[in-house]
Amino acid sequence: MSHPEWLENLHLDFIGLDTRYWLADGRETRRHYLDSAASTLALRSAHHVAGELLHHYANTHSQAHFSARIANHAYAWAHEQVLQFIQADSDRYAAFFAGSGCTAPLNRLARTLAARRPERDVVLASLLEHHANDLPHRKHAGTVIHIPLTGIAPTLGAVDLAALERLLEQHRGRVNYVAISAASNVTGICNPVHEIAALAHAVDAWIVIDASQHLAHAPLAMSDTGAAERELDAVVFSGHKLYAPGSPGVAVVRRALLDGCEPDEVGGGMVEDVHLGDYRITAQFPDREEAGTPNIIGAVQLGAVLNVLQRVGMERIHTAEQQRLRQLLAGLAAIPGLRVYGDPDLDRTPRLGTVAFNLDGLDHGLVAAVLNDYHNVAVRNGCFCAHPYVRELLKPELWALDLDPDAEDAATLIQRRQGMVRASLGLYTTDEDIAALLGGIRDLRAQPEYYRAQYDADSEGNVHHREFATPTETLFDPAAALDRALAQLSASSGML
Ligand SMILES: Cc1ncc(COP(=O)(O)O)c(C=O)c1O
Repeated sequence: MSHPEWLENLHLDFIGLDTRYWLADGRETRRHYLDSAASTLALRSAHHVAGELLHHYANTHSQAHFSARIANHAYAWAHEQVLQFIQADSDRYAAFFAGSGCTAPLNRLARTLAARRPERDVVLASLLEHHANDLPHRKHAGTVIHIPLTGIAPTLGAVDLAALERLLEQHRGRVNYVAISAASNVTGICNPVHEIAALAHAVDAWIVIDASQHLAHAPLAMSDTGAAERELDAVVFSGHKLYAPGSPGVAVVRRALLDGCEPDEVGGGMVEDVHLGDYRITAQFPDREEAGTPNIIGAVQLGAVLNVLQRVGMERIHTAEQQRLRQLLAGLAAIPGLRVYGDPDLDRTPRLGTVAFNLDGLDHGLVAAVLNDYHNVAVRNGCFCAHPYVRELLKPELWALDLDPDAEDAATLIQRRQGMVRASLGLYTTDEDIAALLGGIRDLRAQPEYYRAQYDADSEGNVHHREFATPTETLFDPAAALDRALAQLSASSGML
């Protein structure tokens, strides 16, 4: 098929776009999936590649037979796709896979970088980080100091570069690395990662980028200008947020940071030789960083996605998403009593396709439940594993309730009240999806008392519909799916 033809249809090439559910008002409609920041849907053509590879499946630690050679080739191809996707020079950077999302590589990097420079016991992370880019550094790498953001809640912006510079100067000689998200999983707000890299490098600190919320939405390269000081030292991301569910977490790391360091994990496939009293680790990347049998199928599926996205061009994907984002923000801004969090000025504070909001007087749990139960709109609500950031964004509201967001003993009370609703976009998001979200919010806004009366809240603050309860196994039951597959097997064996 020629390039433009498949390109035109790419937004349709996702599994689950036609999934339908029965709703509380008795209608059966198509799901509007607006929870891509949590996990994206699967790109069918990449899934297809993984399915084809299954016919040749073998362990990459085997060498001699055809299938082992195929598995090794495909797995190496997946690493190449990762490096190419973020323009990382393979002579200077190594890509490796770990765990099921970027949490595993972040823990790994925190341990490795702390071991590399134990005398540097401070890590700077921003206030908008997901817990995965905060807690591993607290646990393994020393004292984490949180860099403030620009602006004032609820319209906070990106990392405050002047504050970062001050912190780097104040802790000069002690900052091992700066750990920053390229984009927030709450507001979609982007950080100027290359400028941050230059500031960090000026005091010999390294820079670790959590690109989990960036790479599906906009281009990101190891260096923006080619200038060495602006180059990133490590980038991590989750394949399941990049249209490849079931794929591993990914790290791309400057080889110089890992060279000569004992890898964090040891086991099969990463040693030259093992004696009873000693062992010798291979110098080969990525082998030395990937102890044990890797997730070959998942990695190849992700490699296929990255290949497709490169062919399309991330600039093009970004431009199309920005248009849809502006449409979503404009629609939300037109709804009375709706507050969008984060600086709304896209020119001053660039954002990607993730938006967090609240409706005055309506609990975020109720909003998400009504959107799901009555409009088939899938959004997330809560604190999105970014408690400090969400608490900071909500401060004016919590103060208005006479709650002290910073008081330890207020934590539980605040926990129940704090939270937001998050809608997030993917390549497959349509105008119809956005319209369904906006229509659902307007409907709730028009008759809040009606909807409040449909739900009870439990002691945890979770809301439950009084009458409409769909047991999950009636929506999808793995045992029933297996029975169907086995019935097909019986039918086909009967035909033999
Ligand atoms: C910005 C960011 N970092 C890290 C993570 C953690 O990723 P995972 O759960 O795939 O390990 C997430 C997940 O939501 C995220 O959004």
